[in-house]
Amino acid sequence: MKKVGNHTSISRIIMFCLAFSLSFSLSVFAQDAAPADAAAAPAADAAGADAGAGDPAKGKELFNTLCAACHKLDAKATGPALRNVAEKHDREWLYSWIKNSSAMIKAGDPVAVKLFNENNQAVMTPFPQLSNQDIDNILAYTSQPAEVAAPAPTPGGSQVAADNGINNVLILGALVLVLVVLIVMLALVNKTLKRVAAANGIEVEKPEPSVSLWQAYAKNQFLVLVTAILLLLSASYFLYGYLMQIGVDQGYEPIQPIHFSHKIHAGDNGIDCKYCHSSARVSKHSGIPSLNVCMNCHKNIAEFQGDKDSTYVEYSKEFYTAEIQKLYDAVGWDKSTQTYTGKQKPVKWVRIHNLPDFVYFNHAQHVSVAGVECQTCHGPVETFEIMKQHSSLTMGWCINCHRETDVKIEGNAYYEKIHDELAKKYGVTKLTAANMGGTECGKCHY
Ligand code: HEC
Ligand code: HEC
Ligand code: HEC
Ligand code: HEC
Ligand code: HEC
Ligand code: HEC
Repeated sequence: MKKVGNHTSISRIIMFCLAFSLSFSLSVFAQDAAPADAAAAPAADAAGADAGAGDPAKGKELFNTLCAACHKLDAKATGPALRNVAEKHDREWLYSWIKNSSAMIKAGDPVAVKLFNENNQAVMTPFPQLSNQDIDNILAYTSQPAEVAAPAPTPGGSQVAADNGINNVLILGALVLVLVVLIVMLALVNKTLKRVAAANGIEVEKPEPSVSLWQAYAKNQFLVLVTAILLLLSASYFLYGYLMQIGVDQGYEPIQPIHFSHKIHAGDNGIDCKYCHSSARVSKHSGIPSLNVCMNCHKNIAEFQGDKDSTYVEYSKEFYTAEIQKLYDAVGWDKSTQTYTGKQKPVKWVRIHNLPDFVYFNHAQHVSVAGVECQTCHGPVETFEIMKQHSSLTMGWCINCHRETDVKIEGNAYYEKIHDELAKKYGVTKLTAANMGGTECGKCHY
């Protein structure tokens, strides 16, 4: 055997490949770090330059806890919009205004008095507890340009993330490239080896023809049987799963004719579910509110004001305002003249929860009698931007809850008597809905 001579050339090629890929990946990682720092630096500079010495991140916190009740950055609320207010007044004036604006108005400061009159003589809360540094921080926050202020609490933070995203792609691409290079190299090595072998007159051994794996498998009856059983079992498992899914619409989330956000109404604005779904308490159905209910508020809310710094706003102001306009079109409300035109276009809400006709379900029984929260069955609705079916609404779901949930008996004379008797009968102190007959077919099926 005289193959040995080739080893040096193979290992040289392999060493070369390794060195090549290593240097390549190193340079990729080097790129990773550099632009991130570079991006962070100017952002911080920019924020620092026009904000004096303040820290916009701390300022944002203060602003949200103390000022956001009356001020927004880009829109007028109780007080004026505060973006770039630092450029409007000098620093000392701002310190004393924010610490005690009423005092300045009383003292007859002309700017303060003018401002006070322009804002319907609304009084701003005094903040004597704030230090000048705190106020600098707040002003730094209000001085941030609109694009930076929204997504990045720490300047440069989001850029770093974005850069990482790009760099991940870069790294992946580089790795693929390295792999391809390796494969080509191997092919070349193989070819060279064969050539060397031929030149040295060495016969390369052909692999012996062996029994193929597949034939061996086919001959082993036990293995075949086991596989067949496994296949059958998994097939029926999936078939069962598929069949059980029929008619179950958990997660159903249709597009509604008006984009109505429960997150904005029930969540951020804290409107009680029963204000709109008023019949949930007293009747079988919970019902969708009529558009007149909407107009109780929306006569006055024609435009979406939501602060775009908030987490609850997922779409643009223009989008939401257009959705409110759809409500006006539906009820025939002309917002410029503040009158009804009489032209109506009823809204066809898409029904989401829908039990089969052969099931009896009663909201009042669950909400008023049993005291079950809406959220237990419908999920955290106050966080839903788009309404969806949270629970499966299967029979098993109803029955499980009836087995687990205790009936509320306190303060209910009717139940107390029944409770005593049934409790004796079942030998328990607490009664579940199931004990009360909540699993009898006739209770839920007509
Ligand atoms: C209770 C409501 C309220 C709160 C809370 C409030 N402000 Fe005001 N702010 C106002 C009103 C109203 C005005 C307009 C002047 C007036 O009517 O007194 C105003 C005016 C201002 C102005 C002058 C704006 C301009 O355009 O010249 C600044 C600056 C200001 N507020 C800063 C702050 C800061 C900073 C905070 C939080 C620490 C804050 N305000 C909290 C109601 C409020
Ligand atoms: C301002 C009025 C309003 C408030 C408040 C409100 N909803 Fe709704 N709700 C609606 C409207 C309108 C629809 C129909 C449009 C949709 O599905 O998004 C609806 C739909 C629903 C549906 C789906 C109905 C279906 O078709 O199956 C459920 C469930 C629901 N609301 C539960 C709640 C719960 C729980 C709360 C309290 C956390 C709540 N809602 C608060 C107006 C309201
Ligand atoms: C209790 C008062 C109230 C009622 C009732 C009410 N809304 Fe609203 N609605 C609001 C408030 C507050 C906002 C947010 C305004 C803002 O942030 O500028 C809003 C925002 C909206 C928006 C824009 C955001 C979004 O959800 O897409 C639409 C559309 C809307 N409402 C439709 C309706 C409809 C339809 C009804 C009736 C089913 C209704 N509203 C009932 C108070 C109400
Ligand atoms: C015990 C579970 C449960 C609770 C608690 C519950 N719901 Fe429902 N809800 C359902 C089921 C089940 C349906 C489907 C009813 C149907 O198809 O007949 C439904 C349907 C609805 C609908 C669609 C319209 C209708 O009446 O069919 C609305 C709206 C609704 N619920 C709102 C509410 C609100 C608001 C509350 C709280 C006050 C609430 N639900 C509490 C289980 C519940
Ligand atoms: C979150 C728990 C819960 C879920 C889910 C639930 N229920 Fe109930 N249900 C109760 C409780 C608790 C009672 C007992 C109320 C009482 O005090 O009478 C009850 C009572 C009832 C009753 C009256 C029973 C009687 O003894 O008169 C019916 C009918 C009923 N539920 C139907 C359903 C149906 C249908 C579903 C499914 C679509 C369902 N429930 C889902 C908790 C639940
Ligand atoms: C707590 C309420 C409740 C009770 C009690 C109840 N069911 Fe159901 N049943 C339902 C609901 C809800 C559905 C609809 C399930 C769906 O749409 O997936 C259903 C569906 C069915 C179906 C249709 C097949 C299916 O799974 O969709 C049959 C059959 C059935 N029930 C038989 C019975 C029998 C028999 C009993 C008595 C042992 C019984 N049910 C007791 C709530 C109940």
